[in-house]
Amino acid sequence: MPRSRPTPPAPVVVSVGGSVLLTGAGDREYLENLAELLRRCGRGLPLVVTTGGGRTAREYIRLGRELGLTEVELDEVGIDVTRLHARLLAARIGPPCPARPPTTVADAVHELRRASPVVLGGTEPGHTTDGVAALLAVRLRAARVVNATDVDAVYDRDPRTHPDARRIARLTWEEFRSMVAAATSGEAGQNFLFDHLGAESLARAAIPLWVVSGRDLPNLEAALTGRTFRGSRIGG
Ligand code: UTP
Repeated sequence: MPRSRPTPPAPVVVSVGGSVLLTGAGDREYLENLAELLRRCGRGLPLVVTTGGGRTAREYIRLGRELGLTEVELDEVGIDVTRLHARLLAARIGPPCPARPPTTVADAVHELRRASPVVLGGTEPGHTTDGVAALLAVRLRAARVVNATDVDAVYDRDPRTHPDARRIARLTWEEFRSMVAAATSGEAGQNFLFDHLGAESLARAAIPLWVVSGRDLPNLEAALTGRTFRGSRIGG
């Protein structure tokens, strides 16, 4: 009798914020350890990583805005910076991770058939790399999206400016979507916990979003591999 093959694990998508990749403190060591973690996790499950542009993208976008560039042109500047970060991380991870980051969601899905992890930056104007992560997750029927960000959880107010902000461990999609809508303006270089398009896409597909501090690598690994982690879970 033919043996049934074990079901392969569902893909996981992780969105690493640019403000996590480059903080100006201990970046080399962090990137080395992050690359090692992603290489290891990518061997055990199909893993896609999106990289944000962070402060570098925002600085170029600010300069471009002063120069009179349109919002679409500013988004394209931001995309180029996110791709630079993707190339840096992909090169450090090394094979089988594709050295040249895919530039579309369709190409990233295609690459994942033969390599894991796959690292990419932005795709087209109008959203952020969180949005790319969400679109990928929907296409891949991912188990979850992990948002590796510069706060350690979702709070009822910005914890950087409100020391008494309350940490929220679990939220419904409805609760989270109203928080995103209240904080998002739609301009290039905007920065919130997760972007509007991303939240809408994941909510509609009922794919959970887990929020973790990107600099806490053991905790990030726990979230990537589906173990108990410290952070917030939205929709599951
Ligand atoms: P990011 O994904 O870095 O956005 O893209 P962010 O909100 O600043 O996130 P952090 O700080 O890295 O966590 C930077 C900018 O690039 C453009 C947008 O203008 C975005 O604000 N972008 C990025 C796009 O237009 N499309 C993309 O697919 C990705």
